[in-house]
Amino acid sequence: MCGITGYIGYREAYPIVINGLKRLEYRGYDSAGIMMYDGEEMHLSKTKGKVSDLEIITDRDEKRKRGTIGIGHTRWATHGIPNDINSHPHFSNSGELVVVHNGIIENYDTIKKELVKRGYIFKSDTDTEVLVNLIQEVKKKEGCKLGKAVQLALTQVVGAYAIAVFDKTKPNELVVARLGSPIAIGVGKENKEFFVASDASPFIEYTKDAIYLEDEELAIIKVGKGIKVRKIMDDSMVDTNVQQLKMNLEQIEKGGYDHFMLKEIHEQPKAITDTYRGRILANEGIIKMSSIDDNLPRFLNADRIIIVACGTSWHAGLVGEYLFEDLARIPVEVEYASEFRYRNPIITTKDIVIAISQSGETADTLAAIKLAKSKGAFVYGVCNVVGSSIARETHSGAYTHAGPEIGVASTKAFTTQITVLSLIALKLGREKGVLSKPAFQKYLQTLQLIPKQVEKLLEIDDQVKYIASVYKDATNCLYLGRGFNFPVALEGALKLKEISYIHAEGYPAAEMKHGPIALIDENMPIFVIATNKGHYEKVVSNIQEIKSRAGKIIAIVTEGDTQVKEIADHVIEIPETEEAFTPLLTTIPFQLLSYHIAVMLDKNVDQPRNLAKSVTVE
Ligand code: F6R
Repeated sequence: MCGITGYIGYREAYPIVINGLKRLEYRGYDSAGIMMYDGEEMHLSKTKGKVSDLEIITDRDEKRKRGTIGIGHTRWATHGIPNDINSHPHFSNSGELVVVHNGIIENYDTIKKELVKRGYIFKSDTDTEVLVNLIQEVKKKEGCKLGKAVQLALTQVVGAYAIAVFDKTKPNELVVARLGSPIAIGVGKENKEFFVASDASPFIEYTKDAIYLEDEELAIIKVGKGIKVRKIMDDSMVDTNVQQLKMNLEQIEKGGYDHFMLKEIHEQPKAITDTYRGRILANEGIIKMSSIDDNLPRFLNADRIIIVACGTSWHAGLVGEYLFEDLARIPVEVEYASEFRYRNPIITTKDIVIAISQSGETADTLAAIKLAKSKGAFVYGVCNVVGSSIARETHSGAYTHAGPEIGVASTKAFTTQITVLSLIALKLGREKGVLSKPAFQKYLQTLQLIPKQVEKLLEIDDQVKYIASVYKDATNCLYLGRGFNFPVALEGALKLKEISYIHAEGYPAAEMKHGPIALIDENMPIFVIATNKGHYEKVVSNIQEIKSRAGKIIAIVTEGDTQVKEIADHVIEIPETEEAFTPLLTTIPFQLLSYHIAVMLDKNVDQPRNLAKSVTVE
């Protein structure tokens, strides 16, 4: 996730901004940049890489560090690969305005085309450079001040943003605004200085007085005068609410959560929304994905799809198998990348290989891609990290836009991967005529309800915590699911193993009779997904079989279920949705459960023993 930090006041800004960027490093980033204003000139330094790489550049020339005004940025690429040019800050064509931006401007392409017609030139591939030039254009056309120009420009923008804008012709002010991405303002004594940042960590030692902008708010910050906040859309003034910060640095970095994993679990409503943002065009009732549109005949004529991945991404791939087969009627095989690469797989030029990877760096997945390419297959990547090795090695692909995942146990990566796969399957299903227009529309509407449903589901935390307290000392657990939810059973078991070190197995519910049933006794907790669609009655029979062998049953059911409630020891309810989307909901209680058990057992939740976030060796 990108990070913003800035300072305007009387102190040397450079150390504040550069240390602020270091404080934001935990958010994950691929490039860094800083603009320093020395009273006459704006000096821009930016680079792909780490803040320490940026410091090498600024150390070469003291001019780059001078001044009492500075804004800095750590970039997590969304539009345009990570490189020096795409790094922020970005100047407007006039060279007067400079912007740092977090988020995604969905309609940047349309705005860019319009600006190009008016003679604007773009150096980078970013949506941010489009935004700063739009602000310049509005300022010129309307003859207004910076604050008004930013406000008017933002009314034309679709997407999400947190921005900080500086205008060298008005050097005692900064303008910041937010929609969907956070921004905090640190208020110095007597309005002599101000700080801006994505969270309060960059300025916590300078001031404890902070204003957190709400969505669709814009603040004009003037040194010596103060802060005025307005609503972007209706121009109404907002009473500024200065809060007293009570959190320490570490708590701020984790957004107030105790662990990154918990923060990331709670980020899922936003992450899922960001995944389909700009891809589901609700008004037109279509899914727009240029990576699919550009290769449509290939997808429509593919003999089969082969999905390659590892770990949690492999589980997402298994959900993908059900999605593609059910919604688009395309045959699918899902392969562990590590096995696939060492077999002698039969691949033809009519196969499409989809490689799924959060990090985009997993060595086995990368090798599987190279093998598939060497055999002539078209390879499509589903990655989270923009510009990663897998994103570069594949012919085409879609990013998940989940934002950086820091906790070693994957959570939001899984649900956003499934979201991307759902979009592709729906799009292909519609293009192939497998899904009628009304059926397709219904799926689209239902998918857009998922973020709110996940939000609601996260409220069951206390119930899951209680269940965790009952079963935390178990030595073996079984996870069962069928159909779309069989992969969720595998994922639930993996999450528990990874962070609590309790042995757990995931199985298709019906397979239980072919072995695992022998393990069942009164000490064995069995987590069963029994949602109302998808073989409900069959799963109920499986539950009866477990019960008659004294196993303890924790069932995930659909709201309003009565049958399973009578048999199970504990029941967790999920909201109603299409069967195809149930994995996006059923996985949430399992994530919370593993988290709470690991915390109760005093394990290192974010960095479990022996595991690495990115497995770059085979
Ligand atoms: C599980 C987990 C791992 C990864 C696997 C693949 O919580 O994080 O199983 O899913 O190492 O990693 P990526 O998706 O980065 O290729």
